[in-house]
Amino acid sequence: MRAMVTARDFDLILQGATGFTGRLAAAELARRAPAGLRWAVAGRDDSRVAELADHLGVSGVVADGLDEAAVDRLAARSRVVLSCAGPFSRYGTPLVEACVRHGTHYGDLTGEMPWIRELIDQHHEACSAAGTTLVPTSGFDCVPTDLAVQAMAASLPEPAPITGFFQVRGGLNGGTLASGMHLYERWTPADFAHPYLLDPQPRASLRAAPPHPGRGFVFPVPALKGWGAPFLMSPVNERVTRRSAALLAEDGQGYGDGFRYDEHLLVGSRLRARMMTGALGVANGLLTRPGGRRLLRFFGPKPGKGPSERSIRDGFARLTLVAGPLEQPAAVRRWNWNGDPSNLITVRCLVQTGLALAAGEARRGGVLTPATALGPRLLERLTGIGAVEEAVTD
Ligand SMILES: NC(=O)c1ccc[n+]([C@@H]2O[C@H](COP(=O)([O-])OP(=O)(O)OC[C@H]3O[C@@H](n4cnc5c(N)ncnc54)[C@H](OP(=O)(O)O)[C@@H]3O)[C@@H](O)[C@H]2O)c1
Repeated sequence: MRAMVTARDFDLILQGATGFTGRLAAAELARRAPAGLRWAVAGRDDSRVAELADHLGVSGVVADGLDEAAVDRLAARSRVVLSCAGPFSRYGTPLVEACVRHGTHYGDLTGEMPWIRELIDQHHEACSAAGTTLVPTSGFDCVPTDLAVQAMAASLPEPAPITGFFQVRGGLNGGTLASGMHLYERWTPADFAHPYLLDPQPRASLRAAPPHPGRGFVFPVPALKGWGAPFLMSPVNERVTRRSAALLAEDGQGYGDGFRYDEHLLVGSRLRARMMTGALGVANGLLTRPGGRRLLRFFGPKPGKGPSERSIRDGFARLTLVAGPLEQPAAVRRWNWNGDPSNLITVRCLVQTGLALAAGEARRGGVLTPATALGPRLLERLTGIGAVEEAVTD
């Protein structure tokens, strides 16, 4: 049952604030928080939380993610909680449960699909009824894709399949690698292979709209003068976008019967596309095997570490959406996101999600996606702070 909380100490608490993305998110919050927003940083280590809180001139809250009583107190004290404490399927469940109990809106950076499915099964109905908005996937996966597809679908005169192409430059965080490894330790690829894994009714969605017949890993994209290759983040981006379409359809605002979404990397040549495919195959091979994970743990970036300041500043993500056949598109739109995807883009997306939730901009309750929780308003916010601009395409 939802506890009655009449007054809360904070509008927003950022959990996991002492980690690599957490610190960046805390700095972004300090920059963007509107006057009067009561916010705090939180984490598991009291001295590091106190140091960060002092540095930013805000309050600090100590809560280990696995200490149920501590995260319960944390969730009860705030109207909104954002979390950077991942792997989320390892540390995040008690916090989500506490947010549901206290009717606290919540956003995080997870891309751990089977965990999101668990949250949907356990909390979507109750949160829909209570008006509590939970938005996992509030980082680079899956805000840019989900909001761009929503904008594109709304601008089409008739429904059409949409294909997304990312060009990216950025680094890898130790926390992201740890989450990827944890995913494969806890689940098998078959557990998240279903193309409609996150839909309200995955089987019914699959029957109604079998995914696009495979184009193969490498294929030409003449309209964009490039080549398509597999993209690491596509599995989660595609499934979240499909969930958005299904939830919006329940309210009569879906993307139409002809809607499909699939996503790829865009590169300049067939050779490069083959190299990217090979690299992704090697990464998958390492992640899925215990011996491979041992190698990654030894040689890869460690939790708490990430790219250099320069690499974070100089990174980018460019997302081009093509509606209709690739040979003869009905429409092409492109969005340029500034900064390293895993860090600058991610914390800007997360922070604007939290500020929008604190400002009462959520469209409904439930275990939602960026498009269904906040929709075009979130894209406006991100455009307003210069995180993204839409490019003119010829
Ligand atoms: N969606 C995206 O695009 C995106 C981008 C970047 C990162 N991520 C995800 O975000 C998460 C964090 O990434 P990161 O690079 O910031 O990793 P990180 O530097 O290793 O940070 C992990 C955070 O979790 C905290 N933590 C660990 N155990 C905890 C516990 N028992 N209770 C409470 N907090 C605990 C850590 O606390 P300490 O500071 O005390 O160690 C730290 O703050 C990862 O899951 C990653 O996959 C997603």
